[in-house]
Amino acid sequence: MEQRFVAKNAQLTKDSFTTRWQAPSNIALVKYWGKTAPQLPKNASVSFTLSNAVTKTEVAFTLLEEPSEKVTFSIVFEGEEKPSFRPKLEAFFANILPYQPFLAHYKLTITSQNTFPHSSGIASSASSMAALAACLVDLESQFVPLSEEDKMSKISFLARLGSGSACRSTQGPMMAWGSHAAISNSTDLFAVTAANIHPVFTDFCDAILLIDKGQKQVSSTLGHKLMHQHPYAEQRFAQANDHLAELLPILQQGDLDAFIAIVEKEALHLHAMMMTSDPYFILMEPNTLSVINRIWMFRKETGIPVCFTLDAGANVHVLYPNNVAEAVNQFIEAELLQFCQYRQCVHDKVGTGIKKY
Ligand code: DP6
Repeated sequence: MEQRFVAKNAQLTKDSFTTRWQAPSNIALVKYWGKTAPQLPKNASVSFTLSNAVTKTEVAFTLLEEPSEKVTFSIVFEGEEKPSFRPKLEAFFANILPYQPFLAHYKLTITSQNTFPHSSGIASSASSMAALAACLVDLESQFVPLSEEDKMSKISFLARLGSGSACRSTQGPMMAWGSHAAISNSTDLFAVTAANIHPVFTDFCDAILLIDKGQKQVSSTLGHKLMHQHPYAEQRFAQANDHLAELLPILQQGDLDAFIAIVEKEALHLHAMMMTSDPYFILMEPNTLSVINRIWMFRKETGIPVCFTLDAGANVHVLYPNNVAEAVNQFIEAELLQFCQYRQCVHDKVGTGIKKY
């Protein structure tokens, strides 16, 4: 139990309170894959905070006559009640109730929507948990004095307890999560902003190619679990931390070739972990590989610094600096969209994090 995050002596001065926050998705450059309870990462990770792929969440809090043992809530997602979302939310609220005991006194009416297709492989758990955590901390700040810095770390801390990568969706342009010797204020408990990023990375573009919008065959929760017995787990955790140490000066200097080498390696090593776990699985589709090959050919022919990364799914994130956006967008249109389901692609870029709306 992290005492510093417990909301103590909250005076419930509000019978009702409504707040609305939006939070973006994020795309990891050094991947988090493997964790221990309570949602602590086995290695440090770093991600670009995105801008267009966001979840918008409204929470209306209403004081109950009697406090309840569990958090009382309803959830409407994109206009529909979602019983299928309840187990994940119930687990989240059970995790955070010790840190926000005042929640037992309220009924929460949650209404949420995404600006991108749900289960497209775009990390909706990251944006949705970060948006919800922002609403919860907004209520807390009505009762307990919190500095802006305290609010940000608490939002990231609570979001982490919903979904690990969600803690990296709160601020931009980049966030690092996990204790790492090269990042002075880093911790496993919440994400911190990565400092002194070269301007080339602060408006980087991410075109998310939707290769297969179907439900994932393997949830990331199961994938993380498979790292417990994994024959290469320890090497992988050490390697991710090494990659992060290598990447930090590259991010400061703006060295795009070195950036590309680490980012693509990370994506393939993540998938190599999936292919070598027991049971083993492949989340890439044939079209994922076709896209990767086209990107490699295009980069070789033109010298344009475009690269890819992958999440735990078949979709490809095409990453490139803003100053080559025109050429890369033409390339995507001409050569990559044919590999996407219904030619779908979400054009995104690096952003600033959560926002009240
Ligand atoms: C491959 O954060 O979705 O996207 O903590 O179980 O909710 P839980 O997992 P999640 O895992 C994300 C894994 C990843 C890599 C990353 O974002 O770092």
